[in-house]
Amino acid sequence: MTNPSLTQDELKTLVGQAALRYVRPGEIVGVGTGSTVNKFIAALASMKDQIKGAVSSSEASTERLKAIGIPVFDCNEVDELSVYVDGADEIDASGFMVKGGGAALTREKIVAAQSRLFVCIADESKLVKRLGAFPLPVEVIPMAARRIARQFEALGGRATLRLKDGAPLVTDNGQQILDVTGLRIDDPMAFEDMVNNWPGVVTVGLFAFQKAGVCLLGTHDGVRTLEY
Ligand code: 5RP
Repeated sequence: MTNPSLTQDELKTLVGQAALRYVRPGEIVGVGTGSTVNKFIAALASMKDQIKGAVSSSEASTERLKAIGIPVFDCNEVDELSVYVDGADEIDASGFMVKGGGAALTREKIVAAQSRLFVCIADESKLVKRLGAFPLPVEVIPMAARRIARQFEALGGRATLRLKDGAPLVTDNGQQILDVTGLRIDDPMAFEDMVNNWPGVVTVGLFAFQKAGVCLLGTHDGVRTLEY
């Protein structure tokens, strides 16, 4: 049933709740970062006695999980995870994503790589025909930031150091973030591969190799399930 009055926040709540059906009782679930994932964490409280715990992709999510009594495991304490639930800044028709708006891209990619299924939860504004309108986040080692910015400029992009309270933002890993606009990403896998090879790049926020297997998309007609 169509409900045009649903707000973006309500769409996020819908997909956060819908993701519970992918959580397997008795297991450890991978948990991402961001405002949509915060809805998932809130919903997960109803299953906290059924799951063994979570692996988290950021200090912020870890804090929220612990606050509702869900044990948080280090990645190195667990083997493969069945499911990783996370949001996206953009997702395309192939399940390729741009992520890192919340600066957690490196740990997100690590947990995604450890998981068999990436369940992306997003409101419909995140579904795009072509990736690249959202500035591409890239976590970098600070001493390499200027050179990496010039490498993006050579591709026609413009890289800006992300700030917080007027100073360079410092990630959970002690590094910095460049946000890159003006890129043309025709082949996400080739692009991810190329940027990964630049010295000083910790992680590029293009998730082509760790793409979504499923996207739960919050729309005014309800939750659409896209499978890739
Ligand atoms: C954090 C992320 C988030 O998943 C992404 O920014 C989407 O966030 P939100 O759900 O708040 O829109 O990649 O690093």
